[in-house]
Amino acid sequence: MESTIERTYPWWQRGSIYQIYPRSFMDSNGDGIGDLRGIIDKLDYVQWLGVDAIWISPIYPSPMADFGYDVADYTAINSLFGTLDDFDALVAAAHGRGLKVILDFVPNHTSEEHPWFVESRTARAAAKRDWYIWRDPAPDGGPPNNWRSVFGGSGWEYDAATNQYYYHAFLKQQPDLNWRNPAVQSAMLDVLRFWLDRGVDGFRVDVLWHIFKDDQFRDNPPNPNHRPGESLYEALLPDYTTDLPEVHQIVGSMRSVLDAYDERVLIGEIYLPVEQLVTYYGVNGAGVHLPFNFQLILLPWDAQLIAATITTYEEHVSAAGWPNWVLGNHDKPRIASRVGPAQARVAVMLLLTLRGTPTIYYGDEIGMHDVPIPPELIHDPWERNEPGLGLGRDPERTPMQWDAGRNAGFSTGTPWLPLAEDAAQNNVARERDDPASMLTLCRQLLALRRAEPALAVGGYQAVPASGDLLAYVRSHAGRRLLVVLNLGAHQQALEHSGLGAGRVLLATRPDRAGEPIGDRIALSGDEGIIIELQSATG
Ligand code: NOJ
Repeated sequence: MESTIERTYPWWQRGSIYQIYPRSFMDSNGDGIGDLRGIIDKLDYVQWLGVDAIWISPIYPSPMADFGYDVADYTAINSLFGTLDDFDALVAAAHGRGLKVILDFVPNHTSEEHPWFVESRTARAAAKRDWYIWRDPAPDGGPPNNWRSVFGGSGWEYDAATNQYYYHAFLKQQPDLNWRNPAVQSAMLDVLRFWLDRGVDGFRVDVLWHIFKDDQFRDNPPNPNHRPGESLYEALLPDYTTDLPEVHQIVGSMRSVLDAYDERVLIGEIYLPVEQLVTYYGVNGAGVHLPFNFQLILLPWDAQLIAATITTYEEHVSAAGWPNWVLGNHDKPRIASRVGPAQARVAVMLLLTLRGTPTIYYGDEIGMHDVPIPPELIHDPWERNEPGLGLGRDPERTPMQWDAGRNAGFSTGTPWLPLAEDAAQNNVARERDDPASMLTLCRQLLALRRAEPALAVGGYQAVPASGDLLAYVRSHAGRRLLVVLNLGAHQQALEHSGLGAGRVLLATRPDRAGEPIGDRIALSGDEGIIIELQSATG
């Protein structure tokens, strides 16, 4: 029977999302690249883990210049990953296990091999010329203005055949669509409907804040805070290429498409400061449901900083919006490498006890770390374009570690990226029955989040704490859970919180479960605990 929580909160508010990078999750046909049948084979695991939805990075036909974020056909499946029939089977198998399926939607740019662009570049008079952003050269023959590509170099690529430049915010193989053209808007909104009609439960929208550019093509101003060693893209402020007011109208159109269906979710990939980020919820909540909140990925791992950030975020997300938190993804170093394996346990407790929908990156639940990639195996075009800056994203995209067998059970062929050196020790099979493992902790946290409305949908109250401690209470209908996390490596104590006595419900150290807690809460280094507080009357 449906609970009150289920009736009151849609699945994407009370649930957790698990990101699958399809090339690296499970290879069913031995070509060294993960695929849809592989994902289907592992759905029992995903269900067992206790998440509610999977978000799959792009699976469309693509020349793979940017590993699927260069889409050559929005309404088909890349043969590397399988077929549309496989996809339908995946949706059915996921739904059969109570799991939702979220697809990646890449609206800012297509692949240069997309038939739209192939036609667009044939002539200035081409029917789809205006589907992309074409400009005449500057008087000296150079690019029309100073806009740069996120991945290095100019954002403009010269096309000799028509003597014009086209704009690409990412690789030159990823020409930007012209969203000012109503025909582009309508074709792309139809793409959403295509997948929604096939049963998809929502979309994560790639670089949503990029999709409109200045119609006067003004130069971006210099960034006075740019430091040597940072990517060259950062040397300019992207004032005229991102976060333009026009984007909100099209976000509203995307949302209207979803609203014609039952409980679908629209998630925006948006890297912006919180004041700008929250504008993507839209007026009266008519924008995206979840503008991805990457603060836990971007901030230094400092308790005071994170506490202040949570408070600011909580203040900015209005009642019409729903918060969310992300700890890792396919573009950023893994949490276990950023903070170390012991602290990664605390980090996942933070992610899964904060107010708002959590997104877990595949492999983080078993504590996977970044894998150093030898130069000859580098795939990521960003690393190739701007070597030596540490921008490469291959290290966090290595194959999932399933067991101690060949290639960690990922593939019978040669995996497209190398496996971690510790895959034989650090894998699902080894961790699933170990009460002290990261996997067990994640699973317990996910189960607790499901069982405790205070965690899934309850309120958030910061608790003052000093040093490396971070503390807060989550509450719902009189039930109060106190979370205390030690973000440092040394012992610390939370003194006289004034919250009363309680009992440890779940801890990063399994032996603490059930321990009674009084006025002073002592934590060893890299430790986190969740305490059920006695009710005010009891
Ligand atoms: C963001 C995606 O997450 C990233 O992987 C990709 O390279 C860029 N968008 C360009 O699509």
